[in-house]
Amino acid sequence: MTESRGREPEEAAFRKLFEAEEAVGLAVLDTTGRILFANAALGRLCGAGPAPQAACPAASLFSAETAQGVAEIVRAALAGPPAPPAVLARLADTTLPADAQVEVACRPLRGEAGALLRVTDVTARRRMQAQMEEGARLQSVGRLAGGVAHDFNNLLAAITGAAEAALARGPDAPTAEDLRQIMDSASRGARLVKQLLAFASRQALAPRVLPLAETVEAMAPLLRRLIGGRHLLALDLPPAPGPRVRVDGSQLDQVLLNLAVNARDAMPAGGTIRVGIETLALTADRVEPGAVVPPGDWVVLTVEDSGRGIAPADLPRIFEPFFTTRRADGGTGLGLSTVLGIVRQSGGHVTVASRPGEGTAFRLWFPVAMEAVSVPAPVAVPATGAARSVLLVEDEAPLRRLAAHALKAAGHTVREAEDAEAALEAVADGFVPDVLVSDVTMPGDMDGIALADALRATVPGLGIILVSGYAERAVGEGVAGRGYSFLEKPFRMKALLAAIGTASS
Ligand SMILES: Nc1ncnc2c1ncn2[C@@H]1O[C@H](COP(=O)(O)OP(=O)(O)OP(=O)(O)O)[C@@H](O)[C@H]1O
Ligand SMILES: [Mg+2]
Repeated sequence: MTESRGREPEEAAFRKLFEAEEAVGLAVLDTTGRILFANAALGRLCGAGPAPQAACPAASLFSAETAQGVAEIVRAALAGPPAPPAVLARLADTTLPADAQVEVACRPLRGEAGALLRVTDVTARRRMQAQMEEGARLQSVGRLAGGVAHDFNNLLAAITGAAEAALARGPDAPTAEDLRQIMDSASRGARLVKQLLAFASRQALAPRVLPLAETVEAMAPLLRRLIGGRHLLALDLPPAPGPRVRVDGSQLDQVLLNLAVNARDAMPAGGTIRVGIETLALTADRVEPGAVVPPGDWVVLTVEDSGRGIAPADLPRIFEPFFTTRRADGGTGLGLSTVLGIVRQSGGHVTVASRPGEGTAFRLWFPVAMEAVSVPAPVAVPATGAARSVLLVEDEAPLRRLAAHALKAAGHTVREAEDAEAALEAVADGFVPDVLVSDVTMPGDMDGIALADALRATVPGLGIILVSGYAERAVGEGVAGRGYSFLEKPFRMKALLAAIGTASS
């Protein structure tokens, strides 16, 4: 650096500043784009690739595909102000992860020939961004699926109800057979809808605080039977009582089942499926494929196999509903979507680590529950079969007609209303219901919960049954907390009649 002779104190101060920068790689370039000197941070970033030595061209630090872009901004910066916009590039170090990326900026030096190169590692930031975008995408797919499933549910309820009613009229044998076929297909449709609602996190859940390890252990015999003799199930669980989580136990069983079946399918020649539980306290966001897990206390349930692994190109898609690489073997692609929906609805996250040919580990992150283990609610009093007067509020006419028909056939008195306003009018007119059966989502200003609240204040001892295709949590807080019963759509008329029998009055 002949130009700088005589300015040693300034240069020393500059170098100190330059070296103090720990995260950002910096290099001063000469008029030909070669490195004059670089800070230690740049050396660290370059890792196992070419070192940023004096006289080496700046562009040579980067991968073959991205070196050209860097060379261009170096040339532009050397031509003088203004500084060219920064570019994204990859360093030449081939041992870096496939998604490693740096942002490279270059600007002319002030009052001197040459340029300053800045290299910032943006891998973590871009991973976080990618995960956020991925999460948002799945959420909007979920909203769409949930909306379709909701409408579909109403159709299925109408189909099942009509078939049930026709069957109850005692048709001839072939007709009865056809009607049973219809009910059978509709209930298969209902199962599919249920999975979609699970993915959309809109399922009716009955969350309880439970010890995770015990729940997993209780499930182990069934899992072992399911995965068959060629596969081993190895549990690595903390000693009792272990951490607690707040989930719906039967949904958790479903989650374990889906993951175990996937693990088994990934190891067709047999192998070991490992299920482990650990607690982790995060002090910062944890970015992993599948999710950005925020800081907090987590219970992590891991299901791991040593199977074929997941191709990197498939990894971002595995949680999508209907994404499957096993279509020929009857895969529907709803297994992982269901897992994700259930875990999310329980306030958790799902992350995945996979290497093709080496295996896959799914990690389910549940918030640590601080409350005591909850005891299941006592079973409601059995049906008395007494005739009741029922206020039936449902905006879908066919569905309302069917339900009214079934209720009347069972000896109840029914007053139908198409929305909350009409229901209130009926009561104002002098109709005194024993039981309110109301859809939760309805047109008009009042939903079913608001209607129930209003009527309970005016009709003492009113039994309340809310009906919805959406999960309790999705339709509003405290359906159970208020002592209201909840019936999930589509329901069998039998279930409605049973609920009427047990509705408190
Ligand atoms: N443990 C695993 N190892 C390798 N690939 C997996 C594993 N788990 C899931 N996958 C991949 O993710 C895809 C989606 O899984 P998902 O459980 O949603 O559907 P599926 O298993 O294909 O079908 P279904 O669960 O409906 O029978 C699978 O087709 C497979 O490609
Ligand atoms: Mg599956």
